[in-house]
Amino acid sequence: MVEAKTITLILKIWRQAGPQADGHFATHQLNGLNQDMSFLEMLDILNQQLTVAGQEPVAFDSDCREGICGSCGAVVDGIAHGPERGGTLCQLYIRHFKDGQTIWLEPFRANAFPVLKDLLVDRSALDRIIQAGGFVSVNAGSAPEANTLPVAQPLAEQAMDTAACIGCGACVAACQNAAAMLFVSAKISHLALLPQGQTERKRRALTMVAAMDEEGFGSCSNQRECEQVCPKSISIRSIARLNREYLTAIVDEE
Ligand code: FES
Repeated sequence: MVEAKTITLILKIWRQAGPQADGHFATHQLNGLNQDMSFLEMLDILNQQLTVAGQEPVAFDSDCREGICGSCGAVVDGIAHGPERGGTLCQLYIRHFKDGQTIWLEPFRANAFPVLKDLLVDRSALDRIIQAGGFVSVNAGSAPEANTLPVAQPLAEQAMDTAACIGCGACVAACQNAAAMLFVSAKISHLALLPQGQTERKRRALTMVAAMDEEGFGSCSNQRECEQVCPKSISIRSIARLNREYLTAIVDEE
């Protein structure tokens, strides 16, 4: 039987007791980590040790732990969701690190994402942008016959590519302007490309962009950092579409 290889990691983790408290990096050494363990499982082990020692566990978000829900997220060695491209923090594994490596772990940082505690940030600003227009309010009724609303295959694929956004906020954390434009453009694109999204298309572009500005997110300056960290590999071409949607809506309004 082949024994699983184990390694030691030194974690420098951002600890912050609350939104108004000062934060600092705390050092923890974890020995005997199974390389097949996920990053979040490693944090679970750290929290067990802290709890047994009577110390406060590290606060962090997670839910599905399968890259689906968008709940997890932290900056690992300066990269949102860590050094592996095309995945979320919960899909990062210990085997991606070297024995004895020091890892710096901090929360997503943006004015619109206030730190609640340790690695936990408030990302409800993204929910409020969706509430401003990221929906179809027509009564969809029951499931229609598949061919009553034909959608060209290339459009359906583009729409599905952008619908893959899980709203994790990594794009915001990676952007030097803390822009949420990749997120907003993904939501606007998938509805703008499908027939069901046409009724509210113009209003949606105006209200979602207004909500994005109101929440304090910055603007895109084409650095493409968002695209690099997006766990669903959403392209910044959707930001170009967002700009077209917004400008068309503005011109039509005047
Ligand atoms: S916990 Fe759901 S995407 Fe990571």
